[in-house]
Amino acid sequence: MAKYMNPGKSFLLWYAHDLINFRLQELHAISACFNIKYEWLEEPSISHPYLLVNFASSADVMKVMSRTVLIRSAYELWAKSNSISCLYKKMKALPKSFTEPYSRSNVSFRILVESFGKKLNKDYKVQRIDELAFLAFEGPIKLKDPDHSFLLMEYYGTNRNFAPEDPYHLFFGRWIADGQRTVSQKINLKTRKFIGNTSMDPLLSLVMANMACVKPGSIVLDPFVGSGGLLVAAAHFGGCCFGTDIDYLMLHGRAKPSRLNQKRRAPDESILSNMKQYGLESQYLDVIVSDFALPLWRVTSLFDAIITDPPYGIREPTERIGTEKDYKIPDHLANSHIPSKVSYSLQDIIEDLLDFSSVYLRLNGRLVYWMPSFNEDFDKTKLPYHPCLELKGFCKQALTGHSSRYLITMQKIKENMNESEKAHVPDAALSFRKKYFEAHKKRLQQ
Ligand SMILES: C[S@@+](CC[C@H](N)C(=O)[O-])C[C@H]1O[C@@H](n2cnc3c(N)ncnc32)[C@H](O)[C@@H]1O
Repeated sequence: MAKYMNPGKSFLLWYAHDLINFRLQELHAISACFNIKYEWLEEPSISHPYLLVNFASSADVMKVMSRTVLIRSAYELWAKSNSISCLYKKMKALPKSFTEPYSRSNVSFRILVESFGKKLNKDYKVQRIDELAFLAFEGPIKLKDPDHSFLLMEYYGTNRNFAPEDPYHLFFGRWIADGQRTVSQKINLKTRKFIGNTSMDPLLSLVMANMACVKPGSIVLDPFVGSGGLLVAAAHFGGCCFGTDIDYLMLHGRAKPSRLNQKRRAPDESILSNMKQYGLESQYLDVIVSDFALPLWRVTSLFDAIITDPPYGIREPTERIGTEKDYKIPDHLANSHIPSKVSYSLQDIIEDLLDFSSVYLRLNGRLVYWMPSFNEDFDKTKLPYHPCLELKGFCKQALTGHSSRYLITMQKIKENMNESEKAHVPDAALSFRKKYFEAHKKRLQQ
């Protein structure tokens, strides 16, 4: 339920124009991670690049901003309105005790005028700043590193070509903090030492670590680790990271290079090198060549978070160790035997992932994973289910015109005694690969 605005407790969270479907889930997850409560000041709308939220204090907002990679900046909201005159009226009515700390002669400040959905010219912005003289800030104006930075934000809707004369919404607020978007530039794939064909986008990896509530000291596992993209993000937030993958060549940095124009991989390409590149080697526990279908771990709850992007069978094979033939390897050949592989369906992978998480996650630990689906097959009432895991949310990312993948977050709510409780995964997952290639073939024939 939407609440009343409350100066000092109401905040404007301004988002970057990216991963729109992930915004609410990221905020829920970070708040859960820090045990922060909040209420909507206005019901969230997917078409708005902002959220208006009441928190208990700006300290809570600082915590959110210390983790979010989707919110650009947060502001303490002083006033909001649909017209400039009404906005000024509300600002003039603010209690003196609230504005006084910012109007002292020894407190420097600046006021920025920004807009969404329409470009504002310099004269217009200067005029707006002049109109704000009633704030009677006595301190010096400092454009760089002021004690306080204020924002007048004008929102003109999402269609720049049909922007109205006057803004739909106006906000005035005091800047509190920026989010962590720069981290995704720091760990970008272009300059990363070791990448693979399916290395996860850095921004999404950070979002996944947030959904998983990875905290300093959390033990994190990616059972389909590939080039370790998810571990880099988890390590950034202080997670201590393990990974497993069936692909020996990939895990040892010997797979075919993924970069155009790179003939051979450098001798030191590895997940550990990536961790070193970002100064995160202290967060690296190990990576092990292993088939997920044959868990190698002692049966106990070990992990605080399992984050993973399982193979969909599109850009990499979905395989597990096994044989359809009936034979026994003679003992004298056992050491040099290279096991054969059989197909590992997406449905089986997800079923195993949920069953594994129900056992190996600690209570309240989180599983965050991707599941691809054909749009026509997706039914939000029929998501993968496990009695020991509670669904915390899911976010859609479009892959093609027909298919999407869903980032699913689950939390372990009870122990799986004797592994008696089993996952249920809907049949739709079974047909994803087949349908994907059928649609691709159709496109090629057109
Ligand atoms: C989508 S990729 C993961 C990419 C990874 N997130 C990254 O950033 O590089 C899926 C990985 O699952 C691995 N895989 C496939 N079948 C497996 C199995 N049975 N057990 C363990 N890993 C498997 C593949 O070798 C591949 O590296």
